[in-house]
Amino acid sequence: MKRRSLLGALAAAPLAAREPQAQQTAARAARGVPAPRIRDVQVIATAPQGLRLTVVKIVTDQDGLYGYGCGTYTQRAELVVAAVERYLRPFLIGKPADRIDDLWQAMYNSSYWRNGPVLNNAISGVDQALWDIKGRMAGMPVYQLLGGKCREAADCYAHASGREIAEVIDNARKLMAQGFRHIRVQVGVPGQAGYGAGGGAGQVEKLHDAPVFEPEDYLRRALKLLETARKELGEAVELLHDVHERVSPIQAVRFCKECERFRLFFLEDPLSPEDIEWFRIIRQQCSTPIAMGELFNSPHEWTPLIRDRLIDFIRIHVSQAGGLTPCRKIAAMAELMGVKTAWHGPGDVSPVGHMANITLDVACHNFGIQESVFFPDAVREVFEGCPVLKNGYFYVNESPGWGIEVNEAAAKKYPYGYGEKGERQRLNGGWGEVRRRDGTIIKQ
Ligand code: CO
Repeated sequence: MKRRSLLGALAAAPLAAREPQAQQTAARAARGVPAPRIRDVQVIATAPQGLRLTVVKIVTDQDGLYGYGCGTYTQRAELVVAAVERYLRPFLIGKPADRIDDLWQAMYNSSYWRNGPVLNNAISGVDQALWDIKGRMAGMPVYQLLGGKCREAADCYAHASGREIAEVIDNARKLMAQGFRHIRVQVGVPGQAGYGAGGGAGQVEKLHDAPVFEPEDYLRRALKLLETARKELGEAVELLHDVHERVSPIQAVRFCKECERFRLFFLEDPLSPEDIEWFRIIRQQCSTPIAMGELFNSPHEWTPLIRDRLIDFIRIHVSQAGGLTPCRKIAAMAELMGVKTAWHGPGDVSPVGHMANITLDVACHNFGIQESVFFPDAVREVFEGCPVLKNGYFYVNESPGWGIEVNEAAAKKYPYGYGEKGERQRLNGGWGEVRRRDGTIIKQ
C-alpha cells in the first residue's frame, strides 16, 4: 500500500479499529526475526602477512546467518585458539546469539580468574562475531546499531620510520603527499634494537649477545628527530611519537617536558602499565598530550587515568580489552572526562578488528585519531571487504555487520608460522628479548 493511501485508510478507520492495527505494526517491528541460537564456534587461524591472526566465526541455527570477530594476540596465538575451542565453544553452543552484553558478562565470569590477555582476546573474538551477526540480522552496518555516524570517516596517522633522520623525513613527505595529515616518526639508534625502526650499522660495546637498547641514547636521538621533523616538515603537520614504555619513569617525565616545544599531536606510552602512577607527575609539569593503553587489559588500568584526566588519548587494543562491548563503554566514560580515543591499530589486528576500531571511530563523538595500516594483497585475498584507506582517512563498509567475508580456503594457504624466520619461528610466533648494555632486561 502506498504511504498516502495507508494514511488515508487509517484516517478513515474508526478510532477503535486503529488501535489494534497500530499495536500489530509495533509488535512486528519489535519482534524482528526469531532469536538465533549459537550452533558452532570455530577459529580461523591464519597468517597471510606473516603475523598470526585469530578470527572467531560463530555459526547460528539460522540459514546463512554467521559472524566474524577478531581475537588476535599474535605472541600467544595458539593459546587463544585453545581458549575458544576448548572452553568458550562448549559454553556457548545452544545460547541465544542476540544477547551480546549478557553473553559477554557470562563469558567474562566463566573462568572465575579474569582480565588476562589470552581470555580477553578469546572473548573479543566471540563478542565481535555477535555484533557482526546482529548487524547482518538488522541489515545494517554495526555503526548504525551504535547510533549512526558522528563523522564521515576516521582521520588516520601513518608511520614514517628510518635508520637515519633524513630517511624518516623523506618517508614522512611521501605519506603527506598521499594525503596524511598526521605522521608518527621513529628513527633507529645505530647498532641498537630501537622500537619502530631498525638501528642499522654500528657497534655498541655490550656484555651479552642479545639485541641491545640504551634509553639515554634513544632519548637523545628521538629529540633530534622531532626537532628536525618540525623544522623540515613545517608547522601544519601533526607529529606523533611512540616511546614504547622503554625508559625509566623519571626519564619519561623529563622527555615529555622536552617535547613540549615541538607541539606533538601526542606522545605515546611514555610509561609502562606498571608505572601508571607517574602520569600524575607528567601532568603537573607539562602540556604534551599523552596517549596510553595499548597493553591494558583490565578496567583497573584505564579507569583511574580517565577518571583523573591524566591522559588525553585512550589507546586500547580493542580485542585485548575484550572486544567492542567493553570498548564502547570505555569510549563513553572517556567522553565524559574529555579524553579522546586512539584505538591501537597495528598489523597484528585482523581486518575484522580494524573494522571494529573504525566503527567506534565514526560512531563515537570523542574520536581522536586512528592508527592505520596498509593491507597487503595476501591479507585482501583472505579478508574480502577490508576497510578502505583514502587520502589519510579510513572508511567503514556500508554492508551489514562488519561487511567482511573471510575466504576460508585462502586462509588455509597461510597457516601459523607462514613467513616466520629465526627467533620468531623458534619461539612459535613469540618475541625474544632486548637487554641494556650490561645485560639488564628491558620492557619491549
Ligand atoms: Co605503541
